[in-house]
Amino acid sequence: MPAELIDGAAVAKEIRAEVAQHAAALHAARDITPGLTVVLVGDDAASAVYVASKEKACKEAGMNGETIRLPHDTPQADLLALIDRLNADPAVHGILVQMPVPKHIDPQAVILRIAPHKDVDGFHPINVGRVWIGEPTGFAPCTPAGVMVLLERAGVTVAGANAVVLGRSTIVGKPMTSLLVNASATVTVCHSKTRDLADVTRRADVLIAAIGKPEFVTADMVKPGAVVIDVGINRVNDASAKRGYRLCGDVAFAQVREVASKITPVPGGVGPMTIAMLLKNTVRAAEQGA
Ligand code: GUN
Repeated sequence: MPAELIDGAAVAKEIRAEVAQHAAALHAARDITPGLTVVLVGDDAASAVYVASKEKACKEAGMNGETIRLPHDTPQADLLALIDRLNADPAVHGILVQMPVPKHIDPQAVILRIAPHKDVDGFHPINVGRVWIGEPTGFAPCTPAGVMVLLERAGVTVAGANAVVLGRSTIVGKPMTSLLVNASATVTVCHSKTRDLADVTRRADVLIAAIGKPEFVTADMVKPGAVVIDVGINRVNDASAKRGYRLCGDVAFAQVREVASKITPVPGGVGPMTIAMLLKNTVRAAEQGA
């Protein structure tokens, strides 16, 4: 029997409705309207699309969403000065500088400048540390946090499960590992240098694919009955598609679906959760204050 689909779009909609309620309650009780400011440096087309959808999602949840667009050649010092201003602005509860930034700007300097209590991306080392030690005020990066919500709402028991994280990026693999360990999974992280990779992934009850390689995870790498979460979003050339490409995940979906018990599609799986969790972090930042 093919695996049950985990519908990320539906879960993201639920989360956004919950966030809207939470934002309304905060407004009623304390006259606070949660506000997210997104900073976009340069004119990368894909980033512009993401940023527009973040602003729209904020407004739909009854929050303030502002985007500050800076030219590509903005000096790093000017960007840092803007972050200082946003850090000091009481109406701004969450700050997100869209990555990647242009090459002349050091992304780590940007991340370190954002006040940890406004770092709704969860990239600041203070938040990385708080999440790692299970400190509840920490902000977890939105994509792995979204994966945890998908697992929970799909009724997957993570405690005691063998979870395998494929990929060790700072944005997904490492924080995913941290969240799964804190949810009492037995976690293995593997990556491009892992020996006998398929032997490792085949031990997973829960397999998280975040390696950034199109359709990398094939059916022979998956234990029958495993839960497979596909974090990848890859563009592959496809002459038959209208735009000349199609989107696919890190999992060879059609074949893995025949082996897994539950699986996320691409698109419509993990992707929609990222913005929903960003809104959730922003409302929490507003509630927690400085
Ligand atoms: N670029 C792509 N995804 C993200 C994200 O989650 N946060 C930031 N800041 N930039 C991104």
